Amino acid sequence: MVFTRKRKRKFLNSDRKNPGHDLMETAVDVKNVPTHVAIIMDGNGRWAKQRLMNRVRGHEQGAKTVREIVTVCREIGVQYLTLYAFSTENWQRSPAEVSALMHLLKKFLVSERDLMMKNQIRLNAIGQIGRLPEDVQSELAHTMDMTRENSAMVLNLALSYGSRAELTRMVKRIAAKVRDGSIDVDAVSEDMISDHLYTRLIPDPDLLIRTSGEMRISNFLLWQIAYSELFITQTLWPDFTRDEFLQIIRNYQLRDRRFGRV
Ligand code: IPE
Ligand code: IPE
Ligand code: MG
Repeated sequence: MVFTRKRKRKFLNSDRKNPGHDLMETAVDVKNVPTHVAIIMDGNGRWAKQRLMNRVRGHEQGAKTVREIVTVCREIGVQYLTLYAFSTENWQRSPAEVSALMHLLKKFLVSERDLMMKNQIRLNAIGQIGRLPEDVQSELAHTMDMTRENSAMVLNLALSYGSRAELTRMVKRIAAKVRDGSIDVDAVSEDMISDHLYTRLIPDPDLLIRTSGEMRISNFLLWQIAYSELFITQTLWPDFTRDEFLQIIRNYQLRDRRFGRV
């Protein structure tokens, strides 16, 4: 569904007349929505374990949460949503789990294409894309190509992504330019560093959410989150809902972002 600003407001306020509904949700301020939300989607394995199921069932359920959260982000006007889907460290999981995750990713790319087109969502990917299986790479390229002109929101998937690998790649690229004389050492700046990361066309996250309660960053966007607001919820990713997401947005909107000033 496409939301104009007026319809967006109507959508956000529509629950005010519903007394049973959590008041927190009604209070999202459409003028102060974070431009970029990044999420560490964690807890799929524990969700499955609680139910005596295979971890893969947790990942399947997690894919449903992805659809719900992409949809709510689009509705409230988030412009960039980055989802940490697979880390460079996740390659060390069992071959069965890695291959199930790759299969799910491919399935997601195919099944969500229509939704992305209908909602004007552009797909982007960051990470070591060349390490993904060929069939996943080709679905990814196809989806990115197909959604290239979509301009309402960017869905940015972090795939085989690790921040240290990204920073190492950046240093090598800048060092090579210094060596061949195309830039001077003194020209190296924070902006130049940002321009050599996978995220070069994407503003830094305003809000970083991690599900499942772990108090760590796990090699995600180390440079980019310098001034992001952090929110960690105990909820496991497959149990995470649009309502809880909207509560987090509301919490974000109450914060005072000082950026080192007073
Ligand atoms: C997050 O869930 C998904 C990926 C890392 C791919 P986990 O698979 O890490 O789930 P837990 O942390 O074991 O519960
Ligand atoms: C972080 O979760 C990576 C993703 C969500 C893709 P992990 O489950 O891999 O991280 P750790 O092992 O808890 O740090
Ligand atoms: Mg985990």
